[in-house]
Amino acid sequence: MAAYTQLMNSSALTVAVIGGGGREHAIVKKLSQSPRVKKLYALPGNGGIAAHAECVDIAATDIEAALAFMKSNAVDYAVVAPDDPLSMGMVDAFEGAGIPCFGPRKAAARIESSKLFAKVLMKKYSIPTADYAEFSDLGDALDYAANAKLPMVIKADGLALGKGVIIAESREEAQAAIFSLMRDKKFGPSGERILIEEYLTGPEVSLLCFADGKRLFPMVSSMDHKRAYDGNTGPNTGGMGVIAPNPYYNEDIAKECMEKIFLPTMEAMAKERAEFRGCLYFSLMLTEDGPKVIEYNARFGDPEAEAVLELMQSDLLEAMLRCTFGELEGADIRFSNESACTVIMASEGYPGAYEKGREITLPADVGAAVLHCGTKAQGDRLLTNGGRVLAITAVRPTLADARQAAYQAVSKVSFEGAFYRRDIGETHGI
Ligand code: AMP
Ligand code: GLY
Repeated sequence: MAAYTQLMNSSALTVAVIGGGGREHAIVKKLSQSPRVKKLYALPGNGGIAAHAECVDIAATDIEAALAFMKSNAVDYAVVAPDDPLSMGMVDAFEGAGIPCFGPRKAAARIESSKLFAKVLMKKYSIPTADYAEFSDLGDALDYAANAKLPMVIKADGLALGKGVIIAESREEAQAAIFSLMRDKKFGPSGERILIEEYLTGPEVSLLCFADGKRLFPMVSSMDHKRAYDGNTGPNTGGMGVIAPNPYYNEDIAKECMEKIFLPTMEAMAKERAEFRGCLYFSLMLTEDGPKVIEYNARFGDPEAEAVLELMQSDLLEAMLRCTFGELEGADIRFSNESACTVIMASEGYPGAYEKGREITLPADVGAAVLHCGTKAQGDRLLTNGGRVLAITAVRPTLADARQAAYQAVSKVSFEGAFYRRDIGETHGI
């Protein structure tokens, strides 16, 4: 409490954000607007983040180097944004050295880093989700898949960049998926254990929530577009675009989610001695039998953060500090009633192999927020440096207007081999 009051009353905080993608750009941009922040660092940051923070060339997963940096630069508060450092225990390491953090400790980050942990938790605490079976033996998995209902969903247990999920429509596809995960180790050790799940249908909703260990505050709902190509076709990606709020998520559903999913999850984590502090992200499917959890993430979504944080009107740093110190009650957290549409401009080839280093032509004002996912500044040139390159986000009074403005902005930006979906938000009743 004393530490909380001290940080909240300060107007000269040094804050470091771990990560260097579009999500971290959205976070850094919003933090830079806080009257409490004097100095911002990003580890490693990127070409866009550099406009708001000093970028430091330390990888997001290098806990030792990051901790040494925090100490020698008197960082008051750290925001650990990506899944990898969270699952590796970066928050535990920083807190152990007396640096308060936004983000869950390792034990709580398991809600994302082990799909099995999440499934067992949901089963134990009667939180609605798809039925599943778990396997660590190749033969057993093949036997089960030979008889399970089609389509079936096959998932690697561990982190796989959102790509370790296969929806098998046929027995042959199911068999091939099991071989690629368990025998060929396509996603490395994360495929040593797999889950085979019941296939659910219905609109998907992403709900990012501020969580303080006990309480939880849902942000504006959103809808990710995970498939690479128009019409929800092609391979799964980290996300090719977002709309917020989600047109399918109404007040009744929100109430049901709060009662049957959100609060029970917070209680379950507390009972398991893995209190969740940070951003708890519920990936939901609105099925005919009510909302069900597809998965949990222990962090802001990317690109969900790029849409949701552009709609946030109150101070992000205050909301984060309240999560860290268990003080969410009475928080002033506000979002605009307007709509946001985020279109990801990606490198040709993504989510497979792609080239980096292509020059980006980016006018100073495109009529929308330009959040950088994978870019690098080189002198006064801006180069592509990742699969997802830019997240262009427009905020307007209606979803239709936001969509139009986002695509208008996209048309003003170019780089060789740029590709993006042309139907973000389109197939959902606008
Ligand atoms: P995940 O990485 O678990 O979020 O899965 C990626 C995507 O696969 C989700 O956004 C869904 O579209 C789909 N998916 C995952 N689990 C299921 C399921 N049990 N039934 C239907 N679709 C699913
Ligand atoms: N957009 C999906 C994720 O962040 O996992």
